[in-house]
Amino acid sequence: MCGIVGYTGPREAGPILMEGLSRLEYRGYDSAGIALVDEEGQMFVEKKAGKLANLSTAIAERTPHSAMGIAHTRWATHGRPNDLNAHPHADCSGKITVIHNGIIENFRELRDGLEARGHRLESETDTEALAHLVEEAYAGDLADAVRAALRRVEGAYAIAVMHRDEHGRLVGARKDVPLIVGLNGEESFIASDVAAILAHTNRVIFLEEGDIADVRPSGVEITNVAGVPQDRAETVIDWSPEVAEKGGFEHFMLKEIHEQPNALRQALAGRVTRDHRIHVPEIEAMIPTLGTITRIELVACGTASYAAQVGASALEAWTGLPARVTVGSEFRYSPPPLDAGTLVIAVTQSGETADTIAPTRLARERGCPIIAVTNTVGSAITREAGAVLFLQAGPEIAVAASKTFVTQVTTLVVLAAAIARIRGSMTEAAEIELAHALRDLPDAAQRALELNAPHASDLARRYVNSRGFMFVGRGATYPAALEGALKLKEISYVHAEGYPAGELKHGPISLLDAECPLVAIATRSSTYDKLISNVMEGRARDARVIAVATEGDLQIERFADDVAWVPATHEAVSSVLAIIPLQLFAYHMAIARGTDVDQPRNLAKSVTVE
Ligand code: M6R
Repeated sequence: MCGIVGYTGPREAGPILMEGLSRLEYRGYDSAGIALVDEEGQMFVEKKAGKLANLSTAIAERTPHSAMGIAHTRWATHGRPNDLNAHPHADCSGKITVIHNGIIENFRELRDGLEARGHRLESETDTEALAHLVEEAYAGDLADAVRAALRRVEGAYAIAVMHRDEHGRLVGARKDVPLIVGLNGEESFIASDVAAILAHTNRVIFLEEGDIADVRPSGVEITNVAGVPQDRAETVIDWSPEVAEKGGFEHFMLKEIHEQPNALRQALAGRVTRDHRIHVPEIEAMIPTLGTITRIELVACGTASYAAQVGASALEAWTGLPARVTVGSEFRYSPPPLDAGTLVIAVTQSGETADTIAPTRLARERGCPIIAVTNTVGSAITREAGAVLFLQAGPEIAVAASKTFVTQVTTLVVLAAAIARIRGSMTEAAEIELAHALRDLPDAAQRALELNAPHASDLARRYVNSRGFMFVGRGATYPAALEGALKLKEISYVHAEGYPAGELKHGPISLLDAECPLVAIATRSSTYDKLISNVMEGRARDARVIAVATEGDLQIERFADDVAWVPATHEAVSSVLAIIPLQLFAYHMAIARGTDVDQPRNLAKSVTVE
């Protein structure tokens, strides 16, 4: 997501902040900005869309002398990536500036209220509302004002705030998004990542949920949002700059696997309400059309096509309309019948996949209503669609998709429920049951990580010499089998296939023996017993069995050599949890085999050619 860096101390803040931003470039961004308070106490703000070099050029020769400032790299979630939407955002007086990473869920009602009370908001962002809330609450003490403002905010945030008249003072706060404070004698820092400040200090405080940090050159005081002091220990970091970039993980892929609970929180922000209803404002303008469609076609490639399979099942089950997935390269040259009654949903994390864009364009030309599901604001697919749902997962650097798979699945399930509710084909009780499961999903993903991360390396070592793997699932768990097999082959170069478990006996069972294990996605589902029968067929051929099973399943250990446990959840999103141990397994298989995890051979993150 976005990058944050702040400085207060005796040195020139401008160069320190720009160097900090350059350390955050690896996160990907679409714009950058800086705010400095100059020697006369005036606020200097510059923001530029595009690469950091654009900002550097804009401030060259005119960066004021300053001992405090905040700077930001943005990765758009609300509002286009342009100069105006770039951070920092200021209040009406221009005395207060704010930078933010995360999503303010109630920003629409906050903005409406602020505008009704006479505030002028200039950007399309959720963040700008924060600057004006702090302005309203300000009575001479910035930390007090930030605490008061945050009491009105729902959502996830890491923020840094500065007031022109409060010399040397920065205020930071976090909820569900990481933020750290760096200490170095007479100077202090705020940052989203250790990487941004490691060149200056390795003494760091990792803020905890709900912390407000009142940062001065000489140190920091931490309270909660009610102003109660919080005691936080200082950590001395011994990471290399390369490790710091990856948040302390050895590879981006492992970092991104561990970011999944937070990515899910962001993906669900604003889409599941407090009263457990599904809310997708992005499709409101399409409501009349969605009421009259007769078929749904999903188009996607690779991992996105497996996520789309989950979406298609949910759409069919809840709307009663036929829904199917066609991979982009097939759709383009053998298109299904397309007309104004065919809703086309294009799923692509990058938004730039040529094989997905071309068929979407074809469908648009034939009059189909189009919805795009993507992680990338401003990407090509967004120009083809009548409505766009962003994954809000943050940038994914590793070539192998992980957090974009789980957020694609989740966003598509949310979309399916929203369309079904529009059409009156999903009961309120079913919607509320799903919403409960979705609200619990980020914590369940965290638990799946905690259950599996400590053992994944040992598990991989036990299977590292296998000739190949057969991944099987049934119904809701079949897409996770396909994705699990793709993850393994992409990064470890071991042959793996994903099959519906019932198909084993129609051919692929001939591959099974002691050298070709079976990976069975055996989480609790309506087809659990059938799947166990298929597992038994494999065991009868000497295949070792790794089962992904639901916590509390008392019988699975009788059928499996190894069990990867995941928490129970709604069947529609079971693949979100089931894939987590399989991602970890693929990762550790690649490590054990010595392959390049983040940049596997022959692959690119974004496939922009046919
Ligand atoms: O950017 P997209 O979601 O459109 O990419 C589609 C596929 O190229 C992508 O999912 C690919 O399969 C990844 N390497 C999966 O890890």
